[in-house]
Amino acid sequence: MVDLMRLDRAASIDDLRLMAKRRIPRFAFDLVDGGAENERNLRRNSEAFEEVELTPRYMVDVSEIDTRAKFFGKTYDLPFGMAPIGMLNAFWPNADLSLARLCARQNIPYVASSAASTTLEELAEAAEGNAWFQLYVSSDDAVTEGLIARAGAAGYDTMIVTADVPAAGKRDRDIRNQLAVPFRITPEVLLGLALNPRWSLETLRHGKPNIANYADLLQSATSYAEVQKTLITPGFTWEALRKLRDRWGGKLLVKGILHPEDAIKCAELQCEGIVVSNHGGRQVAFGPPTIEALPRIAQAVGGKIGIAIDSGIRRGADLLRAKALGADFSFAGRALAYGVGAGGAAGGKRALDILQLELVRALGQLGVTSFAEIGPSVLSR
Ligand SMILES: Cc1cc2nc3c(=O)[nH]c(=O)nc-3n(C[C@H](O)[C@H](O)[C@H](O)COP(=O)(O)O)c2cc1C
Repeated sequence: MVDLMRLDRAASIDDLRLMAKRRIPRFAFDLVDGGAENERNLRRNSEAFEEVELTPRYMVDVSEIDTRAKFFGKTYDLPFGMAPIGMLNAFWPNADLSLARLCARQNIPYVASSAASTTLEELAEAAEGNAWFQLYVSSDDAVTEGLIARAGAAGYDTMIVTADVPAAGKRDRDIRNQLAVPFRITPEVLLGLALNPRWSLETLRHGKPNIANYADLLQSATSYAEVQKTLITPGFTWEALRKLRDRWGGKLLVKGILHPEDAIKCAELQCEGIVVSNHGGRQVAFGPPTIEALPRIAQAVGGKIGIAIDSGIRRGADLLRAKALGADFSFAGRALAYGVGAGGAAGGKRALDILQLELVRALGQLGVTSFAEIGPSVLSR
């Protein structure tokens, strides 16, 4: 009850982020909040969204607003879904299942990460037909094949393969926090647990989070390098994508596209879509913000394949900026994660409600009654 009242006071995603920060140990908060190196790309992502101006138009009856969006033939109640996030239960216990259930209730897609702390089978069930699967191609072909076969058997019909992790990102906060896999208890970790009793108790109750899809494989790993080899490969090439296209009969999207020529190649390989993404600024500090990369990509492949975008979405208006610049659909990562960090399942709902409320208000102010009608004409420049 107290939690609910507190959550009502959160006016923005940034407010939820601060609430989460206050009740999560530093090493776990930084794991989600942080970005690559000096975090320039992380900061630029949301700043660049803010810089896209839209011009309000008035004297239009906006008493009925329609926020639905169609993507790959399916109509969703909102124009965004939950991006794949690995190990999210370390941020707040049971985060994966809370968000999968939330997406099912709201009729939006939930993308289950290969590296989730809950198995892909459990997440498919919790999301009730709204789950997509995100694949990390492993250095070990048998591991990749195992995941694809399991995703097919669990009923997933859409797979997102992540292209932007040829190597793990260098995240300075994680290095400073001495975050290691397998996890080590350091004096700082013990202090963090003592200062955040709610997080510690909930974590004890739900059990130590791990990377559930690979739990058996990782049990025997003794170094981070070994864990990484299982999860990702520096050898994921266009040829490997072509093979994956042949292997996967469902819809295939490639996530992490920032260059128009890469987008064109994805279309040539018959992928159904791309996600313009820089992994939420977690891979490199020097890259472009996604909303700046989007227009050239949309010009190259818009209308030919589905275009989604993520990285930096913090406001309802960002969904309109993305659509105006050529994205059919968006994904939010940290925005919903901060909500869960601030208040568990109810906090996740609060985050979604904030984005929805902001979206409806922004549409009304723009004098556009339906999200589907948003196009370049709303851009100020
Ligand atoms: C803690 C964390 C873990 C992530 N894990 C994955 C993952 O397992 N697979 C993946 O494709 N992307 C992963 N991402 C990237 C997200 O899918 C998404 O691209 C990013 O969060 C979008 O940026 P935003 O957080 O600013 O919305 C992760 C992001 C965060 C913050």
